[in-house]
Amino acid sequence: MTHSGCPAAVARGRELSNSTLDDRDIVFACRNLHVSVQDKDGTKELVKGVDLTIRKGEKHALMGPNGSGKSTLAAALMGHPSYEVSGEIWLAGERIDELEPHERARKGLFMSFQYPVAVPGVSVANFLRASLAARRGKEIPVREFRKEMDVAFSDLGMDRSFISRYLNDGFSGGEKKRLEILQMLMLKPVFSLLDETDSGLDIDALKVVSAGINQATGPDNGILMVTHYQRILDYVKPDIVHVFMEGRIVRTGGSELPRELETKGYDWLLESSAAGSGGTA
Ligand SMILES: Nc1ncnc2c1ncn2[C@@H]1O[C@H](COP(=O)(O)OP(=O)(O)OP(=O)(O)O)[C@@H](O)[C@H]1O
Ligand SMILES: [Mg+2]
Repeated sequence: MTHSGCPAAVARGRELSNSTLDDRDIVFACRNLHVSVQDKDGTKELVKGVDLTIRKGEKHALMGPNGSGKSTLAAALMGHPSYEVSGEIWLAGERIDELEPHERARKGLFMSFQYPVAVPGVSVANFLRASLAARRGKEIPVREFRKEMDVAFSDLGMDRSFISRYLNDGFSGGEKKRLEILQMLMLKPVFSLLDETDSGLDIDALKVVSAGINQATGPDNGILMVTHYQRILDYVKPDIVHVFMEGRIVRTGGSELPRELETKGYDWLLESSAAGSGGTA
């Protein structure tokens, strides 16, 4: 395994191969993760053996071409029932791959969706209150909840009128993304998978949402941000960047990698990984 072009990642790679999963600094890890789906043509393998290790305080970015399997990877890690998954998934020292999605969420795994779905009939306030109660394992008194919700709404620059609206129902693309990060702020996850949280955001919204992500991340948690563009990475600075192609991590590097991708595209990485220089996390 090599991590060409990034000495820090090379050092980290060596360090990782010696680490064990009872290492308390690891907030999230997966080992030899394979994901497949049944469609009319039979079984299709979409994720082909992914290893990831994310330590406390680390921000990782995952970049890669359309259709390479990034969202599938994120959904499978969250426990989406459409996928057959093999391999290990660890959250804060505990295996979670046998758990239901809501149990993973309760333990502090969070996912912000590329395409958040509308849930007519469930208000934003009720949804947030139920999610928070599940995460904390106890009901939150209404006043306390309102206070916390008000702070989060003001942090994300969202109008209070959203509180009584149905979840994502009729929300603009940018409003949906803000609400995803508002949930992250309130739920205080241990580890967050953010799938294209930057897509569809205008320039000001990108700054607000990025500030929200930075506020929600600290020395005790970690994130994996799926993105196509450098711009969010200017605000939420990644420690490590992975390139995902055809269901695999083909390169792991530092914050210089996105700029290199912007000029060179992706194909050179497939060629070099076929020649044996691809890396895993
Ligand atoms: N449930 C499913 N049934 C059949 N095919 C699927 C299913 N889920 C994902 N795929 C296919 O797997 C491939 C990877 O999709 P995925 O959404 O993970 O890509 P992505 O890397 O997130 O792309 P983008 O950058 O466009 O968001 C696509 O070809 C997609 O059509
Ligand atoms: Mg996707």
